[in-house]
Amino acid sequence: MDILVVGGGGREHAVIKALSKSRRSGKIYALPGNGGIAEDAECIPVKATDIEGIVRVAREKKVDFAVVTPDDPLVLGCVDALEAAGIPCFGPTKDAAVIEGSKVFSKELMKKYGIPTAKSETFSEPEAAVAYLKNAPYPAVIKADGLALGKGVVIAQNFEEAEAAVKNMMVDHVFGASGSRILVEEFLTGPEVSVLSFTDGNIVVPMLSSMDHKRAKDGDEGLNTGGMGTVAPNPYYTEEIAKECMEQIFLPTIRAMKAEGRTFKGCLYFGLMLTKDGPKVIEYNCRFGDPETQVVLPLLTSDLLEIMLAVRGGTLREDMVRFREGAACCVVLASEGYPQKYETGFEIALPACQANEDIYIAGAKMQGEKLVTSGGRVLGAVATAEDLPRAVEAAYALAGRISFQNAYMRHDIGRRALAALKN
Ligand code: AMP
Ligand code: GLY
Repeated sequence: MDILVVGGGGREHAVIKALSKSRRSGKIYALPGNGGIAEDAECIPVKATDIEGIVRVAREKKVDFAVVTPDDPLVLGCVDALEAAGIPCFGPTKDAAVIEGSKVFSKELMKKYGIPTAKSETFSEPEAAVAYLKNAPYPAVIKADGLALGKGVVIAQNFEEAEAAVKNMMVDHVFGASGSRILVEEFLTGPEVSVLSFTDGNIVVPMLSSMDHKRAKDGDEGLNTGGMGTVAPNPYYTEEIAKECMEQIFLPTIRAMKAEGRTFKGCLYFGLMLTKDGPKVIEYNCRFGDPETQVVLPLLTSDLLEIMLAVRGGTLREDMVRFREGAACCVVLASEGYPQKYETGFEIALPACQANEDIYIAGAKMQGEKLVTSGGRVLGAVATAEDLPRAVEAAYALAGRISFQNAYMRHDIGRRALAALKN
């Protein structure tokens, strides 16, 4: 089967490498892909948000299947457009992608169906939000309703910070229409767990749990980023907690979506916080996480394409999704300065990988014969091993063999997970 994959980051590189191992996969196209993905797929320079362009290429290349992984095209209805053109897809329709596309929608859904989450209030007028925030408990969590490149969440320590966040979102419209409504949420504490799952709308099959490291600097300091590294599995996510999540969060969510006439098919990402009152939903994503995917898929022993076809066809079974024992770690190498200003255009020297290693390219392009940096997050150095301590060590050893000017990484990916293992 010839497959088209929409997107061009480290996550898509991991998806493409996993798909290419499938018995049934033929040619793979990436739109737009990137300089590293070009090793594993034919990259065609069509933006992930150019829905018409994507449909045109899918038709021209006569692909048999399409996989849409980034949030923007999903929320814009890329799957609907491809399916309407007769191309079967992995990914939720626009109606279902709203679970990520609108935080007000997902909060209402959780309230209506009794799914545990932080208490919150919704505002569509800045004055009302500011009046409420005068007497709110702090820290307070302020969230823009729509997609905001992962920057739409502010944890305000006091009223002044909260007021500034409301002004940014609702008056200065720094996230455009995404900030026309906001949520003010109760601040929760506890370890965070990411759980990606496959669902065909009827059953939900969780993948291995993982832990992201969102802040730019060691010790979870610095600005929020798209993610500086991940480990899987997440040691905080015990079997008992997994069971509780299945009963109280995962199944109720897919049933709720179905009941709302928004059957979700694809990868549903549960961003959870394990509070002392039990697991609660921090966010839903309508797609694979980045860089969670880079540690989860290397441990998958099942055929990813078969799973995706079953998700689309409504024939998913639990026994189709198998993972090997062991653990994985991804260390992101970024351009110094990310997530703010950074320079690009530096040549990347990549080492050969061993069987337990992979390098997933996120922000790099070909310049003549050379691979050069072109983004904030440049690549993920990933290693698998029989346990987490060895996986972390191996991922850092791999990262140490990769060089480019201005490379920056955190040095404590997995540290908290390793500490949790000891308790
Ligand atoms: P999100 O973009 O929804 O993933 O939020 C980004 C980060 O903000 C999350 O990973 C959490 O660390 C934090 N966060 C979001 N909501 C809350 C909350 N209600 N309480 C505490 N932290 C939160
Ligand atoms: N790593 C978090 C996300 O993909 O949104």
